[in-house]
Parts: sequence; C-alpha cells; structure tokens
Amino acid sequence: MTSLHTTPAWILRRPPTCTIGATSSARSFVQLLDPHRAPQVGGQRMTHVFHHISVMRDDVVALFRDVPSGVVIDGTLGGGGHAGALLAARDDVAVLGVDRDASARFAASEHLKSFGDRVHIVAGTFGELTEIVTSAAEWIAGRPIVGVLLDLGVSSPQLDDPERGFSFRHEAVLDMRMDASSGETAAQLIERIDVLELRDELRQNGEGRFATAIARSLKASLPSTTSELVAAVESAVPPSARRRGHVAARTFQALRILVNRENDELRDALPAASAVLTVGGVMVILSYHSGEDRVTKEFFANQATGGCSCPPALGCVCGALPRFRVLRNSAVLPGEAEVNSNPRARSARLRAAWKVRA
Ligand SMILES: C[S@@+](CC[C@H](N)C(=O)[O-])C[C@H]1O[C@@H](n2cnc3c(N)ncnc32)[C@H](O)[C@@H]1O
Repeated sequence: MTSLHTTPAWILRRPPTCTIGATSSARSFVQLLDPHRAPQVGGQRMTHVFHHISVMRDDVVALFRDVPSGVVIDGTLGGGGHAGALLAARDDVAVLGVDRDASARFAASEHLKSFGDRVHIVAGTFGELTEIVTSAAEWIAGRPIVGVLLDLGVSSPQLDDPERGFSFRHEAVLDMRMDASSGETAAQLIERIDVLELRDELRQNGEGRFATAIARSLKASLPSTTSELVAAVESAVPPSARRRGHVAARTFQALRILVNRENDELRDALPAASAVLTVGGVMVILSYHSGEDRVTKEFFANQATGGCSCPPALGCVCGALPRFRVLRNSAVLPGEAEVNSNPRARSARLRAAWKVRA
C-alpha cells in the first residue's frame, strides 16, 4: 500500500455532528434521530447524522494545499467530511458542494454551517458540472475554480440505510437510486431492459463469467426486493464457483452503477471539470472500482499529452501541448492503517492532476 505521506497521518476524527450517531448499527442510528431535526423529503428521511468516514482525507486535503485562492467544487459532497477538512485547512477557499442525494445535502449543510457563506450547496449531479457552475455564478462572484473533487460511489449511510435497497445486508425494496426523487429504480430497470443489454452491463460493471446466467435469472424472476435479487443470483451461480465475499455483491454494485448512470456521469464530468478549472487548479478523483479508475486514468493521460498520439519513438510532431500535469501514472492507495480502521477504504484509488495550460 502506498500513501502520499511518509508517516501515516490517519487521525480518524468524526465530524462533531456525528457524535450521537457513533454506532455501528444502522438500526440504532435511525432510532437515535431527533424527530424535530429529521424531516422527510420525497419519502426520504433527512438526518443531520451522517456516519461516513472520509477516505484518504488527509491526502485529499494535502493535494489542495497549494492551489490558488478561490472555489473548490466538491461534486460528491456526501456529509461534507472532505469539504469540512478542506475549508478548515484553507481559509481562502470556498466550497461549491454538489450531491444528488437530499439526505446527504441535509447532513452536509448541518456539518458545514459554521463555515457560513464559504459553502454553497447545490442539488444536482456532477455530470451537469457546467450547468451547475453557470447557475451558481452569483455565489461564485468571479472567483476562479481552483479545484474539483470527486469521491465516487455511495456513502456509508446510503449503503447502511435499510430502506434504500443498496445492500444485500438489508431486506428492502429494490430501489438503489441516490436521488430517491427521480429516475428508475433497480427493479424497474431490470424489468425494462432486455437480457442481452443486462448481461453486457453486468459484465462491464464487474460481474464475471456468470453475467449471462445472472441476467437470465433476473429477467425470469424480476426481483422487487433485495432478498429476491440475492435469490436470483444464487440460483445462477453454482456454489462451487462462488468467490470470496457475498455471491451477489458484484451484481448489487453493477445494478447500482447502472441505475445511477455512474459511468456516464464520470465521462461527462471529467472534460467539464477540466474546462472550468483555472490554471494551477487541481482535479482529485477517488474511485472504488477498476472501471471508473480506468476512465480517470485514460482521461488524465490524454490531458497530460494534450491529446497527442504521435508514436513515442518519433517524438511529438503534431504540436499538441499538455494541459495537465498528472500526480503520477499509478493510482495512490490508502495506507494500511486506514484500511484496517475503515474497511470501505480498501478499494480506493486516488488520482490527481494539476492544470498547467488553459
Ligand atoms: C463517497 S460519498 C462522498 C463522501 C464525502 N466525500 C465525505 O467526505 O463525506 C459519495 C457521495 O456522492 C454522491 N454522488 C454520487 N454520484 C453522484 C453524482 N453523479 N452527482 C452528484 N452526487 C453524486 C452520493 O450521493 C454520495 O453522497
């Protein structure tokens, strides 16, 4: 495991608003909610408690240490863990926080309220980055965009909320939408798409040689709950072929990626982020599966050459100029201490690149 730090600097401080939720059980986490501070929005319970440990937090903050003064866009605000650490470390930086999940925005607004108008929280997806920056122009007030942070995937509260259908660990309706107010649920999606498309999507998003059998089983059984989805996967994968971990884990992940159009979101966001960043600004992407890390790596490689595809042996003759300087070719991984204390950090891969030319 490698880290940006020579000494492990993982001081896993929970944000102050998380103290009453400092429990490992999702059920007791829900029971501890203060009903006066936990309104419902679109059928989803809002809570100021957001028990998520920000991954590689100190590494992320270190990467923003030398950017010019201005605005950092946190496109995956979650509970505001990374944003809060960044705001505390740089008092000349403001954060435009984006999240598609209403409960995350609610939690972040509570967690970050001491930073006042240095924080502006917007509902939306990071795939719409250009439109979000345009609509926040009044708050941005001409300041340069000096950073973009994407900490991809789902948060712990999303996974642990027994009602949202993200996890095989809880019996729930098969929903999986990060924005519970719009779009198709996983159950509706399985019903709509044809078996070949489902197979290809499962394969592309992590399911291995049983993608065809699982797709057929899902189309035959049309699961509407998490336990029905598990049963459909179990009937498609023989016990002798099951790998370590839960047999349905990859299917859950693949469906979640599909329901939330996660690959398209990232592909749309990277060029938009590169365009809005000022020279000297940094883009930091934390991925949790190989597909999204590959997209980031290829995008950064292209920006680092300015799109040059001249044969390396000849040297560049096309005149393309690098637009970004990449932190390094391989991804940075969390240190062992972090993985031990936060198992959800295990699959994290961090990439960063600085804009060097407009
Ligand atoms: C891993 S969590 C981020 C945690 C956050 N960095 C922290 O330290 O608290 C990912 C968050 O991004 C949000 N998200 C995922 N994809 C998104 C997208 N395309 N647009 C906006 N928000 C997204 C999820 O709803 C979730 O709240």
